[in-house]
Amino acid sequence: MWFSRYTLTATALLSQLCLASTVDHVQAKPPCSCSDLHLPPLLGTEILSFQNAEKQAFTINPVPLLLPTAAKVPPICEVNITLTHPGTNDTVGIQVWLPLKNWNGRFLALGGSAWAAGLGPLTLGPAVEGGFAAVSTDAGLSGNLSSPDAWALKDNGDVNLGLLTNFASRSVYEATILGKSLSRQFYGKEFRTYWNGCSTGGRQGLVAAQQYPELFDGILAGAPAIYWPTYLLAELWPQVVFREENYYPKPEELGAVVAAAVAACDGLDGVIDGVIDEPSECQFEPASAIGTLDFNGKNVTITAQVARILQQIWTGPVVNGQQLWYGSLIGAPLWDLGATVEANGSRFGVPFFVADTWTRFLLQQNASFPTSALDSEDLGELFLKSQTQYDSLFNSANPDLSKLQETGGKLIVWHGKADQLIFTQGSTQYRRQVEEAFGGGANVDEFFRFFLAPGVDHCGLGETFGARPDPNGLLGALISWVENGTVPTFVEGQTPPNAPLNFTRKICSFPTVSSYRGSGDVNVAESYDCI
Ligand SMILES: *[C@@H]1O[C@H](CO)[C@@H](O)[C@H](O)[C@H]1NC(C)=O
Ligand SMILES: *[C@@H]1O[C@H](CO)[C@@H](O)[C@H](O)[C@H]1NC(C)=O
Ligand SMILES: *[C@@H]1O[C@H](CO)[C@@H](O)[C@H](O)[C@H]1NC(C)=O
Ligand SMILES: *[C@@H]1O[C@H](CO)[C@@H](O)[C@H](O)[C@H]1NC(C)=O
Ligand SMILES: *[C@@H]1O[C@H](CO)[C@@H](O)[C@H](O)[C@H]1NC(C)=O
Ligand SMILES: *[C@@H]1O[C@H](CO)[C@@H](O)[C@H](O)[C@H]1NC(C)=O
Ligand SMILES: *[C@@H]1O[C@H](CO)[C@@H](O)[C@H](O)[C@H]1NC(C)=O
Ligand SMILES: *[C@@H]1O[C@H](CO)[C@@H](O)[C@H](O)[C@H]1NC(C)=O
Repeated sequence: MWFSRYTLTATALLSQLCLASTVDHVQAKPPCSCSDLHLPPLLGTEILSFQNAEKQAFTINPVPLLLPTAAKVPPICEVNITLTHPGTNDTVGIQVWLPLKNWNGRFLALGGSAWAAGLGPLTLGPAVEGGFAAVSTDAGLSGNLSSPDAWALKDNGDVNLGLLTNFASRSVYEATILGKSLSRQFYGKEFRTYWNGCSTGGRQGLVAAQQYPELFDGILAGAPAIYWPTYLLAELWPQVVFREENYYPKPEELGAVVAAAVAACDGLDGVIDGVIDEPSECQFEPASAIGTLDFNGKNVTITAQVARILQQIWTGPVVNGQQLWYGSLIGAPLWDLGATVEANGSRFGVPFFVADTWTRFLLQQNASFPTSALDSEDLGELFLKSQTQYDSLFNSANPDLSKLQETGGKLIVWHGKADQLIFTQGSTQYRRQVEEAFGGGANVDEFFRFFLAPGVDHCGLGETFGARPDPNGLLGALISWVENGTVPTFVEGQTPPNAPLNFTRKICSFPTVSSYRGSGDVNVAESYDCI
C-alpha cells in the first residue's frame, strides 16, 4: 500500500534483476551499466526526473576561492535526479558522479558553502579525479551561495521552512542514500562512505554525525558553521562597533593593528614564523599601537579611537553587560567582518553578506532592512530572536554523539585559529560539550578527533597575516583511521605555494599543541612534538 507514496518508474521495476545482483554484501557480481541504474524509494519524496549518461573526460577550470586548481574529470557515469517533498513545492537537484575506471572503492558526499548546500561540479570534479564516487545536492535552494533571496521567503512573505529544513539537514540524508544506492548498483560491491565539507559543509557534516550517523564511516567537518543562529549575529558586531563609534576604519587601519599583534605575539611559542600559535595567550594591547605603524611599506596612523574599536572587536559582542558570543581571535584578518567602503566622500560599513542576508530575509523578512544601521541594543534583540526562532532547526550543535559512537563512525573536525568568519572558539565549545556528555576527552577521542590549525584562515582560504601552514591530508587521515585503525594524532600543515615563507608544522589532535623540540630545523614538522 505505501508503495503508492513513491514514484516507481517502469525502468526501476524492470531493473530488479540488476538490483538483485547488487544488494548489500554481494560481491563480484556484474555491475549495472550506467543506463540500467534505478532509484530506490525514499520516504517522503517523489522523484520528478532521473537522467543518467556516460560522459567523456573533461576539465573544470579553476574558480577563485572555490576551486583553486583545475579538476581533470575522468570518464564518468553522470546521474541527475530531481525530487520533491509533496506539500513543500520544492525541486531538489542531486548530482552523482561515478568514475568508469580507477574507482578507489569509496563514496564521498560533499558539502556546500555559505548559502549553497552543495557546489556541484566544483566539488564533484576533484572527488572523482581522486577516484571517489561522489554526490552533491542543491537541497532545492537556488544554488546561489551569496544570497537566499531567491528562496528564503514564500510569495506570501512567510519564511520557507520547507527549504530551510532541506538546507538544515534532510538534504544530506537524501542525497547520500540515493548516491550510495546508485554506487552499489553500479559497482556491485560494498564500499566505505565519507563526508567532506567545510563551513556550511562542516555544519552539514556535524548534522550527519548527530542525526544520521549510520550513513557514514567517516566524516570530515572543517570550520563548521554550527551555532549558526548565534554566530551569524556575532559576525555583525564589528559593524555595530563602527556605528556606535561613528567611525568606519579603512582596511589598512585594522590591518596594521592586526599585523602589529601578530608581530608582537608570534614568538610566544618559541618560534618566529608569522604564526600566533595560541591567540588566547596573546596579551597585545591595541592601545600600544597608537601612533604610526608601517604596514606593507605604508605609514598608517592609528588613533586612540581605532585602538578602542579593535579592543571591542576582540572582546566580542557585549550588550548590557552580557557577552553574547566570542570575539574575533587576535591574528585573524578583519577584511570581511570589518569591511568598509568609501562612497560620495564618506566611508560606510559593509555587513558580511551571510549575516546581512540572514538578518534581512530570515529574521526581518524584509529585503530592504538596513542591517548596517543596527546598534548594540538592536543586535541584542536580534540574537534572542534568531536563537528563539531557529535554534531547534539550525543550531546543528547537539553534543549527543552516542549513535555515532555506537555505529563505529569516525569524525574529524578541524578549524583554523585565524578564521575571520566563523569564530574558532565555537568549535572548541562544541568539542568541550561533547567531552562533558561522554565523561572526558579520552572517551571522545576514540571516535572524534579535533584539530586546531594555528594561523589558518576560514577553510584555509583568504589572506592571512604572516604565514599559514594549511592542514593537508585530513581526508587521507580520516580514511586511514576508518580503514586501517591508524589514529590521527596529528596531520601535517604546509604553507601554500608562492607564500613568502615555506615550512611544515604538526597540527595536533586537541588538546595537544605543537611544540618545538629546541633543536633541529625549525622549518620542518619533524622538529616539533604534540604535547
Ligand atoms: C545533468 O545536469 C547538468 C547540468 O544541468 C547537465 O549539463 C548534464 O548534461 C546533465 N546530465 C545528464 C546525464 O542529463
Ligand atoms: C511553487 O514554486 C514556484 C517556483 O518555485 C512558484 O512559482 C509557485 O508560486 C509556488 N507555488 C506555491 C503554491 O507556493
Ligand atoms: C546571487 O545573488 C546575488 C544577490 O541577489 C546577485 O547579485 C547575484 O547576481 C546572484 N548570482 C547569481 C550567479 O545568480
Ligand atoms: C614613514 O615614516 C617614517 C618616519 O616618519 C619615514 O622615515 C618614512 O619615509 C615614511 N614612509 C613612507 C612610506 O612614507
Ligand atoms: C552615493 O550617491 C549616489 C547619488 O546620490 C547614491 O545613488 C548612492 O547610493 C550613494 N552611495 C552610498 C554608498 O550612499
Ligand atoms: C522594510 O524595511 C524598510 C527599511 O527599514 C522599511 O521602510 C519598510 O517599511 C519595511 N517593510 C516592512 C514590510 O516592514
Ligand atoms: C593501510 O595500511 C596498509 C599497510 O600498511 C597500507 O598499504 C595502506 O595504504 C593503508 N591504507 C590506508 C587507507 O591508509
Ligand atoms: C618548500 O621547501 C621544501 C623543502 O625544502 C621544498 O621541497 C619545496 O619545493 C619548497 N616549496 C616551495 C613552494 O618553495
